[in-house]
Amino acid sequence: MTSDRALVAALTPAAERLLERHLEAAREWFPHELVPWSRGRDFVPGETFDPEEAGLPDAVRSALFVNLLTEDNLPYYFHVLDRVFGADTAWGEWARRWTAEEMRHAMVMRDYLMVTRAIDPIGLERARMVQVGGGVVPQPDLAADGFVYVALQELATRVSHHNTGKALLANDRAGYEVMKRVAADENLHFLFYRDLVSAALEVDPSSMVPAIERQVRTFEMPGTGIPDFGQHAKAIAEAGIYDFAVHHDQILVPVVLRHWKLEAIEGLTPEAEEARRRALKHIERVGRAGRRFAARREERAAAYA
Ligand SMILES: [Fe+2]
Ligand SMILES: [Fe+2]
Repeated sequence: MTSDRALVAALTPAAERLLERHLEAAREWFPHELVPWSRGRDFVPGETFDPEEAGLPDAVRSALFVNLLTEDNLPYYFHVLDRVFGADTAWGEWARRWTAEEMRHAMVMRDYLMVTRAIDPIGLERARMVQVGGGVVPQPDLAADGFVYVALQELATRVSHHNTGKALLANDRAGYEVMKRVAADENLHFLFYRDLVSAALEVDPSSMVPAIERQVRTFEMPGTGIPDFGQHAKAIAEAGIYDFAVHHDQILVPVVLRHWKLEAIEGLTPEAEEARRRALKHIERVGRAGRRFAARREERAAAYA
């Protein structure tokens, strides 16, 4: 097994190549062009928020709230990349470019929400102060874990933004377009990290498989530190925007099983073999929980109808 530092060094050529690919694939876009400004009007200071005005379901409002506050936590995510990957060479260039792109997400989402009055602006701002003042983000110790975490995280964010957009479609096409655009960025970020993990698996599978196991087992959607996060996460899951089934079917299976081919990786140490076995078992468990959860939701919907 190579050391974690050596792994980062060995992957520098891959990072260079993937950064170049990213820069070619990324299209310039402008947050201000997606915001329906004509629908806005001034807020009277202290004005009470009227949720009826935008008429969104509570779960969609929860998803917009959590997704935006996660984007607002950008300084701490940057800090993790800076610490784990280093600020030099392609790693630093990637982290800075990524940060510049990510900053657009909070810009466009906040402007959209203010103009359409979809969310209580005072509650949102107070929550942002708590969230950013707390600065809680996952802190992987090793680069191996960092690669895996950000790959899963970017894809989970893409899916979550996109499903939020789809849930908005019934009420508001402009909101759908905002979330779709942001999700497209997250997809390119995901592809960078997904393929970085593939390259790392070639270099040092016996370090990477245990990292995959740890990250799969402990993965949580970002949001710890957001006021009432548990309650919002529950509403988001109930609405099927992000739940165990989504996590299993759209993140764990396509990436860990199909793309990284966890079951077929060769040349593992006994400890890495053991980690693989645990990871596979965990994925299966998440799938079962997802199916159970979805079945109960359907039963409730049927009872309600
Ligand atoms: Fe983002
Ligand atoms: Fe992203």
